[in-house]
Amino acid sequence: MAEDNSFNFKLENVSYVSGGNPVLEDINLAFERNRVTLVTGPSGSGKSTLLRLMGMLISPTSGEIFYKGKSLDEFDPSEYRSKAVMVGQKPYLVDGSVMDNLMLPFKLKHNKDRNISEETFVEYLSRIGLDRDFLSKKSKKISGGESQRMGLVRALALNPETLLLDEPTSALDMSSEEQVVNLLRDSKKVRSIVVVAHSPAYLQLADRAVVLKNGRVANCKESMSPKELKDCLEGRI
Ligand SMILES: Nc1ncnc2c1ncn2[C@@H]1O[C@H](COP(=O)(O)OP(=O)(O)OP(=O)(O)O)[C@@H](O)[C@H]1O
Ligand SMILES: [Mg+2]
Repeated sequence: MAEDNSFNFKLENVSYVSGGNPVLEDINLAFERNRVTLVTGPSGSGKSTLLRLMGMLISPTSGEIFYKGKSLDEFDPSEYRSKAVMVGQKPYLVDGSVMDNLMLPFKLKHNKDRNISEETFVEYLSRIGLDRDFLSKKSKKISGGESQRMGLVRALALNPETLLLDEPTSALDMSSEEQVVNLLRDSKKVRSIVVVAHSPAYLQLADRAVVLKNGRVANCKESMSPKELKDCLEGRI
């Protein structure tokens, strides 16, 4: 199929069943390229599951997901996961220093030709309140908010076409969250971002919000003010 340049994702009639329970039902969504989409909705509504499907960590029970016009079934999973990089609610950490953890993706076979310098990490970290000394900290000793920022910097350093972020600042205070939102705002010029979040700070960043309720897309407006989003979440629109 010819590459479709306007969308990076299309989900067609996507459902996901886990242990006999429907988690997502009949999801139809299109995500434009180089846009930020906020995915929000109550706990348990299926947001992380949606992101895991889009990140090719799990596969739909039925329906199909397309990335730039090509079905995910046709991609090599590791190649795909370097184009669309997902940062989970709890970033993956191994024993060792923060630097060891930042370097993890660059040790993988399909990334071995990528060059990365310590300065790139330092530059990203300095924008979100962490200095060079952070690199030598033991991963066991970093806080939840520090590990979230490490996960984000690790993903940004890969310079992916698409970033899939699951609650990237849930453990951060408001001012650190604002720093992360500003960093993402600069990064959105060169990539598509799908971010699961609850904080209003993301409404300023997002071009569009998708609300999930009980595993389905709620039928609200595409662009919402904080008040409209609240009304949508509470079922008034
Ligand atoms: N592997 C699994 N096995 C069984 N049920 C699952 C599995 N993963 C998710 N679920 C169920 O699917 C539903 C949606 O989960 P999901 O984690 O996608 O929600 P969420 O919107 O991200 O919630 P939160 O805001 O709390 O992170 C929940 O009811 C959850 O219990
Ligand atoms: Mg979740």
